[in-house]
Amino acid sequence: MDLFAELAREPSVVPIDDGAVLLAAHLQHRDRALLDAALAVLSSAPARHMPTRSGGRISVAMSNCGTVGWVSDRQGYRYDAIDPDSGRPWPAMPDCFLSLAREAAQIAGYPSFEPDVCLINRYEPGNRLGLHQDLDEGELESPIVSVSLGLGALFLWGGKLRRDTARRIPLAHGDVMVWGGSTRLNFHGVHSIAAGHHALTGACRYNLTFRHCGTRAA
Ligand code: SIN
Ligand code: FE2
Repeated sequence: MDLFAELAREPSVVPIDDGAVLLAAHLQHRDRALLDAALAVLSSAPARHMPTRSGGRISVAMSNCGTVGWVSDRQGYRYDAIDPDSGRPWPAMPDCFLSLAREAAQIAGYPSFEPDVCLINRYEPGNRLGLHQDLDEGELESPIVSVSLGLGALFLWGGKLRRDTARRIPLAHGDVMVWGGSTRLNFHGVHSIAAGHHALTGACRYNLTFRHCGTRAA
């Protein structure tokens, strides 16, 4: 991907569904600071392929920052204030993460979003995320803010039921998807990432998913 082509993309706000908006090319010149902050988090809480209840491993490598983090293990999914790999609290959420997440939510119509967790997903070519709902948060009033960095992806935007046909929405470096309200629990996922190279991230896609989960940490 050519950096100049990236910078040439004009920001735009694209309605996707009731309560769901794509802020295309939203990051502009803030991309490098966000990536550096993500890499700093990953240097103290490395991305890992978390175990699943069924005995497998999640294809996407994950980590977190914030007061809690999303974890998967043989017991299932939950939020936990402690990183199970290190036994320490997750790294604090960087200020540039917080301000970007608040701003994106505001533009999308959610003016009082206060994320307390950011899940960092690192995709390599061939990695995918099956259709799922974000259900583990303590409250469902807050939206999800989802930032794409690096290699492009096809985001699968489904409906209320797993069997509903999913739209394929291309997500590029610098795009931010926000959804909430009546589509907060819509199924969504990420199609298998195609091989490629991005000037900032190399052969890799990072996704930052901001959520508010309140006091539900285990
Ligand atoms: C997720 O649903 O947790 C991640 C979405 C994405 O990577 O774009
Ligand atoms: Fe999700």
